[in-house]
Amino acid sequence: MTFDTIIRGGTVATASDTFACDVGITGGKITALGSDLGKATEIVDATGLLVLPGGIDSHVHIAQPSGPGIVMADDFASATRSAAFGGNTMVLPFAMQQKGESLRQVVKDYHAKADGQCYIDVSFHLIIADASDAVLGQELPALVHDGYTSFKVFMTYEGLALSDMEMLKVMSVARETGAMVMVHAENYDAIRFLTDRLEAAGKTETKYHGTSRPIAVEREATHRAISLAELIDVPVMIVHVSNREAMDEIARARRRGLKIYGETCPQYLILTEKDMDGLNMEGAKYVCSPPPRDKESQAACWEGLQQGIFSLFSSDHCPFRYDDPQGKLTPKGKTSFRWVPNGIPGVETRLPILFSEGVSKGRLTVNEFVALTSTNHAKTYGLYPKKGTIAVGSDADIALWDPQRQETISQTLMHGGSDYTPYEGIAVTGWPVSTMVRGQFVVRDGKLVGALGGGDYVPREKSELARPRTAL
Ligand code: URP
Ligand code: ZN
Ligand code: ZN
Repeated sequence: MTFDTIIRGGTVATASDTFACDVGITGGKITALGSDLGKATEIVDATGLLVLPGGIDSHVHIAQPSGPGIVMADDFASATRSAAFGGNTMVLPFAMQQKGESLRQVVKDYHAKADGQCYIDVSFHLIIADASDAVLGQELPALVHDGYTSFKVFMTYEGLALSDMEMLKVMSVARETGAMVMVHAENYDAIRFLTDRLEAAGKTETKYHGTSRPIAVEREATHRAISLAELIDVPVMIVHVSNREAMDEIARARRRGLKIYGETCPQYLILTEKDMDGLNMEGAKYVCSPPPRDKESQAACWEGLQQGIFSLFSSDHCPFRYDDPQGKLTPKGKTSFRWVPNGIPGVETRLPILFSEGVSKGRLTVNEFVALTSTNHAKTYGLYPKKGTIAVGSDADIALWDPQRQETISQTLMHGGSDYTPYEGIAVTGWPVSTMVRGQFVVRDGKLVGALGGGDYVPREKSELARPRTAL
């Protein structure tokens, strides 16, 4: 047999095993694993490199409407290019509904933005902002059936926050359709109350973003989301968990047998609230929600990753330009932290940060790294085993890593649409040198070689993890 490609001489690592092995690829799929595989149109020398499943970043925001006068820094071309340089082969952005919009139309609009504009594969989660009977009774079940098998709900943000009644209704649809629910857990009224009070006291600098969303706000909403999910008996993923108290709510729910999953992100391992205390709006570069906390919270998030309380490590990439009134500097007159768009870039730095701080520093095995950054994302969102592993029959979505390479993260190394990285100056050991999607290199030895439009939209199955505990 002649393969299209053989990746030869590398060390393959999956979520469960590490082994010296060549990888044979035909027609975009992995068709053989072994030694002496024979001939191929192209032999790729991976000596000294790790051969890992490409990263799947299941929490990114791309080209999402972000309020009057604010523009997100990435379109699908720049976000997926940046993701590819960061060792990713697939991203799952959101198709965000706004009140009054048809969900089906929203999905069409996002396809119009994404189709033919991606370097790596994509699939959409939905965001449900309008829990009307028409949306929940007809559009949502039909979309789940069509492969949009997960959706996010917000317990905060103007125009997005759902009431408990609406959350319960949405969760019931998830239970009936087998979709996975992602929850942004922060108490909206508490944030509004604290924000008003801070502003009345003249406390408007960016550092007060953190003060307006303390840990109790996240812990309470996490507890409430879990309680609502328990009432309906539906699995949920609590996204972007930032601290021990919220994490403990998840751990406690799991000890009680509930299917409650957790995700954390690089900002909660690397940044603290002090980063938001910059002069001249510099702190705006780090404004995201939930906000970065303190060193103890960072330690807690590491424990959550090591103990499996968090099964996903995602970027929550939500990029705005810093030096730009359409970005973090906000239009004239809007000087309070209230108006700074929430979100930071991170799709390109997620994997190098976790590899370096996790694997290179001995906190995680390479197999845990693969699980947290690729395999578990595929399993959680109905993509496994097509995506998220190196196995015969799986898509040949592969990242080649140099585990010894030392780099210092800097905006000059980035390939996205933002004008800064919140991780400027962080030294890392371990770097993705090449990324291949369905057998085709997108990035090769640090150079973009893939074609715009080479990334496909991927409809998804229902996740095994989204199955309720009891029969319908
Ligand atoms: O600040 C954040 N995280 N922005 C992105 C939107 C979200 O809530 O995930
Ligand atoms: Zn969120
Ligand atoms: Zn997000």
